[in-house]
Amino acid sequence: MRKQLTVGSLIAGRSPVQTPAPTPVSGNMPETTGRAGSFSRLQTKPQTTIKRKQVTVKQHDQTISVEQAPCQTLLQAALAQGQPLSYKCRQGYCGKCRVLVVSGTSLLDAPTKQESEKLDQKLASGYRLACQSTFRSTILD
Ligand code: FES
Repeated sequence: MRKQLTVGSLIAGRSPVQTPAPTPVSGNMPETTGRAGSFSRLQTKPQTTIKRKQVTVKQHDQTISVEQAPCQTLLQAALAQGQPLSYKCRQGYCGKCRVLVVSGTSLLDAPTKQESEKLDQKLASGYRLACQSTFRSTILD
């Protein structure tokens, strides 16, 4: 037993409260080799890899896959994931970010008015403006 001072124990006439010493934690902790600093030797469960859905697009004879990123534009997600997409205005005017969607169209919201006006006939052929195409707000299975 270890004596522990509390606010109440400091009041004159009261004896210090005795509390049991803390017990060592065991059970749910990963086991180690017993060496200090050997984190790489921790025994852990195998990690589960979550594969996200992707939109695959073609731009200038280059095929690019962009992982689903809810509420982001295709361009924002591509750039964040280090994918080289060409663009200029980011506002749907120049058309430089135009891509042909090869797969994953269902992950994208419907074309914006700006996108529809800019692409016109090409929209029906599967083209989208990466700066205007937004991923759906929910992740689909
Ligand atoms: S960057 Fe100009 S239309 Fe997309």
